[in-house]
Amino acid sequence: MSQMASKARTIDLVLPGREQSYRVLIRAGLRFALGRELASLGLPNRVFIVSDRRVAGLYGGQVTGALEEAGCRSAVLTVAPGERAKTWPVAARLAREFLALGADRRTPLIALGGGVVGDLTGFVASIFMRGVPFIQVPTTLLAMVDAAIGGKTAVNLPEGKNLLGTFYQPRLVIADPDFLRTLPPKERLNGLAEILKHGFIRDPALLDDVAAGHRQLFRDQERLADIICRAGAIKARVVAADEREAGLRRILNFGHTLGHALEAASRFRLPHGQAVAWGMLAALELSRRLTGLSDEAAAYGRDLIKSFGLARKFPAVSIEAVLSALPLDKKREGQNLVFVLLEDVGKPVIYPDVSPGLAVECLRTVAA
Ligand SMILES: NC(=O)c1ccc[n+]([C@@H]2O[C@H](COP(=O)([O-])OP(=O)(O)OC[C@H]3O[C@@H](n4cnc5c(N)ncnc54)[C@H](O)[C@@H]3O)[C@@H](O)[C@H]2O)c1
Repeated sequence: MSQMASKARTIDLVLPGREQSYRVLIRAGLRFALGRELASLGLPNRVFIVSDRRVAGLYGGQVTGALEEAGCRSAVLTVAPGERAKTWPVAARLAREFLALGADRRTPLIALGGGVVGDLTGFVASIFMRGVPFIQVPTTLLAMVDAAIGGKTAVNLPEGKNLLGTFYQPRLVIADPDFLRTLPPKERLNGLAEILKHGFIRDPALLDDVAAGHRQLFRDQERLADIICRAGAIKARVVAADEREAGLRRILNFGHTLGHALEAASRFRLPHGQAVAWGMLAALELSRRLTGLSDEAAAYGRDLIKSFGLARKFPAVSIEAVLSALPLDKKREGQNLVFVLLEDVGKPVIYPDVSPGLAVECLRTVAA
């Protein structure tokens, strides 16, 4: 991992036994070097960019202009902002637009946006003409540290989130922290919750470093790039060890079992970061009861989460609704719930046997 201020920080994601390893590059202003980076991978100089209308309005012109200067022709195709764009009909519409514009099986698709655009574009890239080169240019903090790394793609069905999807790794990820200047506070918190998650499962020092002066974080581009790199590297290392979630990758679900149920119970009104924060609090409490997490470590984790303005006021959802959302969690195995718990901060353990009743009791405890 490079730490030099002037050079891009780099995470190399090496997938064992696979040709397709790739780099995550992190530096302010990197969006202007996209053309050069594509050329260095030997990709064709005609590309399609998928973005949502908000991000396209903010950055589409800059990115296409920079590509043009590098001799690369591009067109931007847009979708509506937010989760509602992550659907099969939108994926099919994009594929037909690519065809109409003359895309072939070598044409790179670039996702310029948050996790929604990344998941959707990656999904289309993985199936369009049986797979075309895919590049991630994440513009939210959550996408930079999490969604853009690791190759999970998906669209939603009316029956649930991410029910159609593929594993399809990008050829390159370009994370430019400058994008985050325009990111709304709620979206920043969504990303911070995932950074905390990465700290809890793998890197206690990251937790301390994010917490120290986190209010200034978005004003200090160097520090922000450093945190993005460290949090992204955790995701990359976990993915490299277990690309298809056969084992270790499941630790990335820390806080997500109850988090997803809370999101669903709130009919997705509760922001993802807040839901995960409550889920992490409940997981800390479960860890205290089941896996020997010390009272001090649980209290440290709780205070840390709350210090970010996360999990302050319990959302207006009934615990019964959370309980009934739990069986729909696709991570459930058998009668009980699989939880990622902690033996200590930085030491996760997959605990396969938590009863829904106990999970909800812990949620009640932390909500009180
Ligand atoms: N593939 C994975 O491994 C993975 C992991 C985590 C989450 N996800 C998925 O990611 C999605 C959530 O992603 P998200 O949190 O990035 O949300 P998002 O993509 O919906 O973006 C959030 C909002 O921020 C706006 N936005 C994006 N960048 C901006 C910028 N720089 N300035 C101003 N506004 C900006 C968008 O227009 C949107 O309205 C979910 O669908 C989730 O399932 C995928």
